[in-house]
Amino acid sequence: METKWLKLNPAGDVAAEYKRELAAAVELLRAGELVAFPTETVYGLGGNALDASSAAKIYAAKGRPSDNPLIVHVAEVEQVMEIAEVDERAAALMRVFCPAPLTCVLPKLPCIPSEVTGGLDTVAVRIPNHPVAQALLRRCRLPVAAPSANLSGKPSPTTGEHVYRDLAGRIAMVLDSGSAGIGVESTVLDLTVEQPVILRPGAVTAEMLKPYLGEVLLGGKKVGGREIPKAPGMKYRHYAPKGKVVLLPAAELIAAYRQAVQAGGGGKIAVLATDEVLRQLQPQHYHRLGVDANDLQAAAHNIFAGLRYCDLVGADMIFCEEFPEQGIGVAVMNRLAKAAAEE
Ligand code: TXA
Ligand code: MG
Repeated sequence: METKWLKLNPAGDVAAEYKRELAAAVELLRAGELVAFPTETVYGLGGNALDASSAAKIYAAKGRPSDNPLIVHVAEVEQVMEIAEVDERAAALMRVFCPAPLTCVLPKLPCIPSEVTGGLDTVAVRIPNHPVAQALLRRCRLPVAAPSANLSGKPSPTTGEHVYRDLAGRIAMVLDSGSAGIGVESTVLDLTVEQPVILRPGAVTAEMLKPYLGEVLLGGKKVGGREIPKAPGMKYRHYAPKGKVVLLPAAELIAAYRQAVQAGGGGKIAVLATDEVLRQLQPQHYHRLGVDANDLQAAAHNIFAGLRYCDLVGADMIFCEEFPEQGIGVAVMNRLAKAAAEE
């Protein structure tokens, strides 16, 4: 299949300036085809969430196991009520935060086929805060199932080019509006239980949710092989480049890198780190993550491009700087720990 690759500048009035492009995308979604689009977190691979065969196409295009449920995207809170059971707590929370990099797991209504939710009786719902995503969702008035638009196992895509590299020939269209802002995927919050649980950390943190929900648990940290995890996606190896990832704080990273270079024979080495480390090491192969370890927004924004860079240069060994687990740093370290995991 030929993949159409359309560039959209998100700065202006997207709905007015890109009528033709949006109409073409909506037509494809309505016809059961797949359209990748930007969100404020990462790019999503969209298909009609009311249609089981669109969901099947999403799993096939990504090479994703079909027990790993998809996030359903809508334009506004009122549309969430059409696909999920929304209690007062969830409605109030969404009214405060959304549109946002926040995904709420809620009991699903029958209109969402079980193919979309990996057989679960809950559905993960998100209202993205990105002008292109909003324009697309408003124009099509369909709930759009969209996992991250990467091949399964690869880092999530934060540019249209990442999407095109992974999925060209497998999907109908890519709407490309450059670099995604936040860079790590949304916070997944389970609201089907009395005490809400963050199943996947993201830009909306437990501290931000606390005034509205009280203490929020952070779950899904490391999931053992046999238990059935609440966020099924957490059990799969993720984000992993081909090379071995070694995750270290700045000072230890500097020492370990120097030792590895001196010892030689370890193949091609790449460094993912901030200016503070890069200045001292001047490595041949590197991807910059920000100014220093406190520059957490930059780390989130750059981390997936950095992991992809390692595969592009064919790194065998990757030294990656650690970040403090505060704010969005929790999400960054969660993804890096997965990238460094052995299994
Ligand atoms: O930022 C994001 O969330 C991006 C953009 C495109 O919106 N999407 C995304 O989707 O990251 P995906 O499919 O790559 O990750 C969805 C995560 C998985 O870990 C999945 O297991 C979990 O959400 N999930 C989805 N539905 C669920 C459900 N009903 N119950 C528990 N976890 C669920
Ligand atoms: Mg994903």
